[in-house]
Amino acid sequence: MKEKRSDSWMRKVAWASVPAVVTVALASSYGQALSQEMAHVTFTRDVAPILQQNCQICHREGAIGPMSLITYEQARRYAPLIKLKVTTQEMPPYQYDTDVGIQALKSDMRLSPEEIETIAQWVDQGAAEGDPADMPPARRFADLDEWRLTAEFDYGQPDIVVESKPITIPAEGQDLWWEPLVPIGITADRYIRAIEVKPSLAGRMVVHHANTTMSVMEDGELKSMRGRFTEYASGKLGEIVPSDAARLLPAGSYVRWSIHIHPNGKEVVDDVMSVGFWLYPEGYEPEYLQSLRNYRLEGDLDIAPHGTAMTQGFHTWDHPVRIDSFQPHGHLRLVAKSLEIFYPETGEREMVSMVSNWNAWWQISHIYEENVAPLVPTGAVMILTAWYDNTESNPHNPDPDVWVGRGSRTADEMSHAWIAVTHLDDEGYERLKAAREAQLAQADGGG
Ligand code: HEC
Repeated sequence: MKEKRSDSWMRKVAWASVPAVVTVALASSYGQALSQEMAHVTFTRDVAPILQQNCQICHREGAIGPMSLITYEQARRYAPLIKLKVTTQEMPPYQYDTDVGIQALKSDMRLSPEEIETIAQWVDQGAAEGDPADMPPARRFADLDEWRLTAEFDYGQPDIVVESKPITIPAEGQDLWWEPLVPIGITADRYIRAIEVKPSLAGRMVVHHANTTMSVMEDGELKSMRGRFTEYASGKLGEIVPSDAARLLPAGSYVRWSIHIHPNGKEVVDDVMSVGFWLYPEGYEPEYLQSLRNYRLEGDLDIAPHGTAMTQGFHTWDHPVRIDSFQPHGHLRLVAKSLEIFYPETGEREMVSMVSNWNAWWQISHIYEENVAPLVPTGAVMILTAWYDNTESNPHNPDPDVWVGRGSRTADEMSHAWIAVTHLDDEGYERLKAAREAQLAQADGGG
């Protein structure tokens, strides 16, 4: 389904404006690469391990997925839908192209082509159970209200937890915005290693997404800074700062919450969300500072009824940087976004990340593995490109008959990306570059 949609919007987008790489990304598909018949595929031996590893974190009792996928009976009932969702790469919900750009990502949820083919073959061959003796032992999961950075990433408990103020969410009604301001309660500057936002157990079904930004008291006045801590959205992990960098948490800062709530049939009394900060010890001085910022794409957003559009924005830094993560943002008409780097000295243009199947339900931040995160020399140009589809073939489009412009309502569009960057100096840039080259040479030498 998704593939068909991509085809149709691609046809309507002016071809001249589409970089060649995008076309390549859409032209190849898993199916072609792996068409040979597999031996008899069974649930217990072949499929259950894939579901344990990649699906049950959300598809189990009480988690955000609409059904459990633990037992054979549960999975059997959904077999055709499972095949559809995994072959169109809508599930697991991690939209990021597999055949172009940096592929080593932290907390990457994507299945391998072999895993997708195993599931497809299992369904095509009749979704057999197989020998119950092959069934792997049940996977143990952390409690639903545990921090994921603690449970999955070995970060220990957060050093500071800041709760939003309680709000009672009615069972029915309009969407709500809840924007309390809460002091963090630190009296000296500290440095951040990681951040995670956690809804309550009862609230996780109604909190659509939540922003946490930093406010600081200056001369008795509360100033909102451009900095953001993190954006929570279901399925998203949070922020992991690379080990050689840190984010500043200034003394006296506040968390400004901005929580988007969508009543869901059940009243939730006195709900609170929590943000956890993992910090370096007091007195710690980081090598480099990282910042998370909203990089806007310039130009007007002007999307005609039944039309498509493309926008492009550019940014250069006056010092070398490392790009640590990329989170495309948009609303219901945004369908694809890419991040490229142009090197004026060589004329080379490098595709870093392409999301050609973007969808607003999953606001995922793609965190690059530290040894591949792009190192950007002074003067190189970051290019962000976004594609919009306001036709009826976009299944998320609420109304193809209206013109769409820039705005913050869900019915308007936006064109920016949240990008975490480590700010380097020339010496640091050369050192990181040399370390990577040495690592590559070693990998080559080792065969
Ligand atoms: C990060 C959480 C998460 C992960 C991981 C995940 N899912 Fe889902 N899944 C959801 C949510 C939430 C929905 C409902 C909303 C939607 O369809 O996007 C869903 C919907 C589905 C549906 C459609 C159900 C329906 O009735 O429409 C299927 C099928 C599915 N998932 C299968 C899978 C499989 C198979 C995997 C692993 C290969 C997987 N999911 C991994 C969260 C997840």
